[in-house]
Amino acid sequence: MNIIFLGPPGAGKGTQAVRVCEWLGIPQISTGDILRRAIKEGTPTGLAAKAYIDRGDLVPDSVVIDIVRERLAQPDCKSGYLLDGFPRTVAQAEALASFAKIDKVVDIDVDDQVLVDRLSGRRVCLTCGGTYHTSQLNGSTRCERCGAELIQRDDDKPETVLSRLKVYHAQTAPLIDFYKERGLLVTVDGSLSMDDCFAAILSHLGA
Ligand code: AP5
Ligand code: MG
Ligand code: ZN
Repeated sequence: MNIIFLGPPGAGKGTQAVRVCEWLGIPQISTGDILRRAIKEGTPTGLAAKAYIDRGDLVPDSVVIDIVRERLAQPDCKSGYLLDGFPRTVAQAEALASFAKIDKVVDIDVDDQVLVDRLSGRRVCLTCGGTYHTSQLNGSTRCERCGAELIQRDDDKPETVLSRLKVYHAQTAPLIDFYKERGLLVTVDGSLSMDDCFAAILSHLGA
């Protein structure tokens, strides 16, 4: 099954993607994670993307479309994949339709006020993609899954969070109608607990 997770920053796309991908045995493809790794490694793509990400803007369509096209050509995507954070503009969705067949789009819906709190307390693992909130870490700074040191993302500063939310409403939210019109959209309430949200997603996927 080829799946897209849609939703605002902090909705829980990454959190649920890790669990759903483990459950279904498919790769999680997060354009945000790929770009952050490129920045860390200092690749040309990373250098080009950094200023956009730091401002909370979207990286140009051409850059992310090429990343996803190459990634989906890898052998581990043959039996399905989950796109987390792509597409994010109508142009990306149209490009994707030219090289991939999507079976289901899960929109994880959460109000803006909740998102600001979630993002300001978020800690992430750059090694395995694990995502945590300070409220569940009991002061620990290590990833429970792989032991790596957790970091706070540079774009989780309050000003940047607000501009990411604006960008989401202006450029990404239109994809809700885009996929509704194509009969692919299901919506889950992302303000549920992590377990209830996971169960709701699996039931929509028939998994
Ligand atoms: P990206 O990394 O994709 O960030 P994002 O979409 O802003 O989404 P987040 O990762 O912030 O949120 P999430 O929904 O994954 O939430 P999470 O599970 O972590 O993109 C970053 C940047 O890269 C973009 O701004 C852009 O510049 C660039 N980029 C990436 N893709 C691009 C594209 N396609 N085109 C152009 N540019 C692109 O959860 C958040 C927090 O909430 C965590 O602390 C978690 O523990 C907590 N939490 C999660 N679920 C729950 C729950 N049910 N209850 C309570 N707490 C919860
Ligand atoms: Mg994420
Ligand atoms: Zn980890």
